[in-house]
Amino acid sequence: MPAYTESQLHWKSVAHKLAEEVVRPAAKKYDELQEYPWEVKEALAKAGLMGVWIPKEYGGQGAGVLELCVIIEELSRACGGIGVAYAVNALGSFPVLLGGTEEQKKKWLPEIASGRKLIAFGLSEKMAGSDAGSMRTHGKLEGDHYVINGEKKWCTNGGAADLFSVFCVTDPESKAKRISALLVEKGTPGFKIGKAEDKMGIRCVPVNELIFENCRVPATNLLGGKPGFGFKHAMQTLDHARPGVAAQAVGLAAGALELAQVYAQRRHQFGAPISSHQGIGFMLADMAMRVEASRLMVLEAGRLVDTHAPNATKMAAMCKAFATDVAMEVTTNAVQIFGGYGFMKDYPIEKYMRDAKITQIYEGTNQVQRMVIARNLVKETSELDYLSKWIPTEVQKGGVMPPEPAK
Ligand code: CAA
Repeated sequence: MPAYTESQLHWKSVAHKLAEEVVRPAAKKYDELQEYPWEVKEALAKAGLMGVWIPKEYGGQGAGVLELCVIIEELSRACGGIGVAYAVNALGSFPVLLGGTEEQKKKWLPEIASGRKLIAFGLSEKMAGSDAGSMRTHGKLEGDHYVINGEKKWCTNGGAADLFSVFCVTDPESKAKRISALLVEKGTPGFKIGKAEDKMGIRCVPVNELIFENCRVPATNLLGGKPGFGFKHAMQTLDHARPGVAAQAVGLAAGALELAQVYAQRRHQFGAPISSHQGIGFMLADMAMRVEASRLMVLEAGRLVDTHAPNATKMAAMCKAFATDVAMEVTTNAVQIFGGYGFMKDYPIEKYMRDAKITQIYEGTNQVQRMVIARNLVKETSELDYLSKWIPTEVQKGGVMPPEPAK
C-alpha cells in the first residue's frame, strides 16, 4: 500500500466503509434502472464526502485533490458509476473554486459542499468535443444579463444537477478571450435538460444534452466577473479533475482484480485452483503491477495539482491516459478469468468492463491526453539544451537542409 498520510487514511477508511455497506449493494440495481442513486448520495453527504475538496471557509473539509482521488478510488472499487456520480461534482465546482469571485464562492460552494446542491460541467457540444475551443453556444450581454443560446452534449450529472458551469462564446471576434463561463441554475427560464443518453456503462449517472433558448442569466453569474477567461478556467479545471478520472479507473481496475483473485483461487480446473496455472497467475500478476503503477501515478498527480506544481498539467494527463488504459485492460482480463460466468449479467464483473470504457473517453480522450503530454514535452525540452552536444552536429543546428550550391 502506498504511504498515505493520516488525513488520506481517514478519508480512505470512511469511503471504504460506505463503499462496502452502501455502494456495492446498490450497484446492480441502479445500473439496471439507469437511475440516479439518491440514497447513496445522501449517505455520502452525511459522511461529509461531498465537499472534501472544498476549503473550510466555504463549508468544505479543506482537503485536496489527492484526498478526493483516494475517495473516488474506494467508491469506484464497488461501483464505477457511483464513483463518477460523486466525482463529477468536483469537476463542476472546480471552475467556481479556481475562477470564481469571492462572492460567487461564498454563494455556491457551501451548497455543493453540504450536498444540498449537485453541480455539473457543460463544455462539450455535438460538433465540439476534443476541440473544445470550437464551441458554438453563445452568451450575449444584454443589460445586466447574458442571453445564452445553443446546446451542450454529454453533460455528466445533467439530469440530477441543480447548478451548471456552462462555457459559451461571449466574444466571437476575439481569439484569446472568446469564451467565458456562466453559472446557470436549473429552472432558469430558457434552460432545458435535453435528451438523457442510454449508456454502455456508468448507467446510474444521467448524461444529458443541455438546451439554451434565450436563457437569461444574471451577469453576476459570469465566473470571475470578467469575460474571456472561460477556456483557461476549463483547462485548469480539467487539470484538477483528470486525476479523479484516473482514480475512478484505478478503483475499477482494483475492484475487478480483487474479484478475479477470489474467483481464480476458488475455481478449480484440471484438479487445481486456476490461479495456480501459470497462464492465469501471470495474468493476475500483470494486472496487479499495472493497478499499483496507476495508483502511484494518481497520487503523484494529485500531489502536484494540490501544490500547483508547473508539471501538474502533464502529470494529470499522464495518469488519466495510463490509468484508464490499464482499467480497460485489467477489467477485460478479469472478465476473461471469470470465463463463461464473466460474460453473464448474473455477476458484477462484466459491469466493471462496461464502466471502464468511458474513462478512456471523457474529460479528454486518451488521444487528447497524449497531445497534452507531447506538447508539454516539447515545452520542457528547452531545459535539456545542455544535452545538444550529444546529438549529431547537423541536427543541432535545427536539422534544416542547407541550400543547394549554385551550379
Ligand atoms: N492551464 C491553463 N491554460 C491552458 C491550459 C492549462 N492546462 N491548456 C491550455 N491553456 C491555455 C493556453 O496557454 C492558451 O492560452 P493563450 O492563448 O493565452 O496562449 C489557450 O489555453 C489555448 O491553448 P491551446 O492552444 O493548447 O488550445 P487548443 O485549442 O489547441 O486545445 C486541448 C488544447 C488540450 C486539445 C483542449 O482543447 C482539450 O483539453 N480538449 C479536450 C476537452 C475535454 O477534455 N473535454 C471533456 C469535457 S468534460 C466531459 O468529458 C463530460 C463530463 O461531464 C465528464
